[in-house]
Amino acid sequence: MSHEIRQMTFEDYDQAYRLWSQSEGLCLGDDDSRDRIEVYLRRNAGLCFVAVSEGKLVGTVLCGHDGRRGVLRHLAVMQGHRGKGVARALIKAGLTALGRSNIRKCNLYVEDYNPDGLRFWEHLGWYHVKYDYRTLQIPQLLTWYLRFLAVSCHFS
Ligand SMILES: CC(C)(COP(=O)(O)OP(=O)(O)OC[C@H]1O[C@@H](n2cnc3c(N)ncnc32)[C@H](O)[C@@H]1OP(=O)(O)O)[C@@H](O)C(=O)NCCC(=O)NCCS
Repeated sequence: MSHEIRQMTFEDYDQAYRLWSQSEGLCLGDDDSRDRIEVYLRRNAGLCFVAVSEGKLVGTVLCGHDGRRGVLRHLAVMQGHRGKGVARALIKAGLTALGRSNIRKCNLYVEDYNPDGLRFWEHLGWYHVKYDYRTLQIPQLLTWYLRFLAVSCHFS
């Protein structure tokens, strides 16, 4: 069974989403809607990859960066296609593309409930950062901005 690795396109969304939904260890949310993934693919053009076997999508990796750090997300390989080096090939494609964008470091996040995923990354030589940061988030940027604006106007 051969696998082709190619860049992900918008047309891959339905099959990719199905794979993500079936993949233990992946956490999906509103950022995974069609619209949000389209924004992600546009922003990170040439950095996201799929694995295809006999015309069917069987693996994905989303890569992005902020000009300083790369981030890998949604690495998933369909059951039945695992253990054949597909994830390795996807990661290589993603990291090579990040390298071409002159990005030298890369992070990724593993869910607490995904010890298998953690063992996988450790097997490939990834390691825990020495000190973990607390990750803070503004859930709705626009709402926050409008509130910020209202407070600023109040004081000006
Ligand atoms: C983790 C996952 C992507 C691996 O995909 P895969 O295509 O089977 O991986 P590969 O065949 O490329 O394996 C690469 C190497 O990792 C090893 N490996 C695979 N799964 C492993 C695991 N759970 N723990 C330790 N090592 C593992 C393989 O034996 C192989 O080793 P080798 O090349 O040194 O012989 C796949 O199991 C998956 O989709 N899991 C669910 C989603 C997930 O957890 N993703 C990671 C989110 S952080």
